[in-house]
Amino acid sequence: MVPAALVEALRAAKRVMFFTGAGVSAESGLPTFRDAQTGLWANYKPQDLATPEAFARDPEMVWRWYQWRRRVHADVAPNPAHHAIAAFEARLPESVLVTQNVDRLHELAGSPAPIHLHGSVFRNKCASCGVAMPEVPHDLETPPRCEVCGGLCRPDVVWFGEGLPQDEWKTALAAAERAEIVLSIGTSATVHPAARIPLVAREAGALVVQVNPEVTPFDRIALNLRGPAGVVLPDLLSRL
Ligand code: OAD
Repeated sequence: MVPAALVEALRAAKRVMFFTGAGVSAESGLPTFRDAQTGLWANYKPQDLATPEAFARDPEMVWRWYQWRRRVHADVAPNPAHHAIAAFEARLPESVLVTQNVDRLHELAGSPAPIHLHGSVFRNKCASCGVAMPEVPHDLETPPRCEVCGGLCRPDVVWFGEGLPQDEWKTALAAAERAEIVLSIGTSATVHPAARIPLVAREAGALVVQVNPEVTPFDRIALNLRGPAGVVLPDLLSRL
């Protein structure tokens, strides 16, 4: 399933980028964005809750949804895909990990410095003045107030319609322009601008390898390894 030429290219490469999406955490038990929500929140779509408008309309509801997600995220562990990526990084000192995920499973697997393009559910900030706010217990039902300006606390994640954090975006773009190989893993490649990262790398001459059991818009620019990341990545690692 893994072409020998890819193994050779990975052995020779110095600058490898890992670009991950929700699919890399699926085998840990976290639902992907385009999967149905479960349980309590089955009737809500992320696209309706993860927006500044939803928070302005009903901050407590959006806050409670994130508190629920924090409890779910705090209960799961990295899977073989996260561990394989961390092991690849240890072997490839100039590699970069860029993730769209708001969980902390890459960190828990030992990845030293994942670039979080969409923030993290485990960070908070003030919805009014933007100052960083501390984590609070995950069963607190109402958002605390900011000590600086009295604004409401919100998760430090990127919502639909918001811009990406500029430092992270610039670092990821610069790394994409320099990458020799990009592994795009577990992403539907539909949410921009994040999905531009592998495209920028491709335009700059990188080989793009995609790990996904499904077809995505990257199929046409990538070498496709069809299958779950938790199987494909350890297999690839074992061949290096
Ligand atoms: P999606 O939910 O859009 O896509 C998940 C992808 O993972 C799909 O292409 C699946 O086929 C694939 N997948 C599922 N199981 C997999 C497995 N075991 N191994 C490998 N791939 C698997 O998630 P993202 O692409 O991450 O944005 O979504 C991008 C962004 O859209 C998210 O970061 C989020 C969302 O709205 C924000 O929060 C701003």
